[in-house]
Amino acid sequence: MVHVLHPAYPILTERLLLRPVAAADAPALHRYQSLAEVCRYIPYEPRTLERVEQVLAEARSSLDEPGNIQLAVERRSDGAVVGDIILMWHSREHMAGEIGYVFDPVFAGNGYATEAARALLGLAFDQLRLHRVVARIDARNQASAAVLRRLGMRQEAYLVQNEWFKGEWTDEIDFAMLASEWSG
Ligand SMILES: CC(C)(COP(=O)(O)OP(=O)(O)OC[C@H]1O[C@@H](n2cnc3c(N)ncnc32)[C@H](O)[C@@H]1OP(=O)(O)O)[C@@H](O)C(=O)NCCC(=O)NCCS
Repeated sequence: MVHVLHPAYPILTERLLLRPVAAADAPALHRYQSLAEVCRYIPYEPRTLERVEQVLAEARSSLDEPGNIQLAVERRSDGAVVGDIILMWHSREHMAGEIGYVFDPVFAGNGYATEAARALLGLAFDQLRLHRVVARIDARNQASAAVLRRLGMRQEAYLVQNEWFKGEWTDEIDFAMLASEWSG
């Protein structure tokens, strides 16, 4: 089987629409990617509008080889951009990947991140046919751990002070799901 990822967009879930990010999304993504509270536990620092535009210009929405796709998450009822999600295809040999998500706190507490991340797992397992998908989070990021548990991902590891992150040693929790554990 040739493993590639060319999703048919948009991807619809009950309340959300997932589609490739576009240059026009810059102001919406900047609104939350520029907030210190949003960036507290994620690799990047709060972004300027110029940095958001640069990242969007480099984003991909299909893959023939390992790499990342980044999608915008819209609320279907009003078209509001509520967040963005990333699927990382790490390895063809191991058919391994990773998910990530960042949501606008204005829209928190509605289950949107869980619903969008579930669709991302669908892309990973049903379309790309990955064997294993992980999520790696800062151990203090309880909101993100709750998303992963709602998705049915298993906590596999608690890594003590494994990263020097934003000025301090931080613990990491690793979650995983195998294709054999994915029920759609
Ligand atoms: C991590 C993050 C996406 C979680 O957002 P969230 O809004 O808590 O997660 P969800 O969208 O899944 O919403 C879950 C909440 O909605 C509630 N909810 C309401 N309707 C729901 C529904 N239909 N389905 C599921 N949950 C629902 C849940 O009970 C939960 O509420 P609680 O926080 O009071 O327990 C968000 O905090 C974020 O973007 N943080 C900054 C970036 C970040 O850290 N990303 C992760 C990097 S690893």
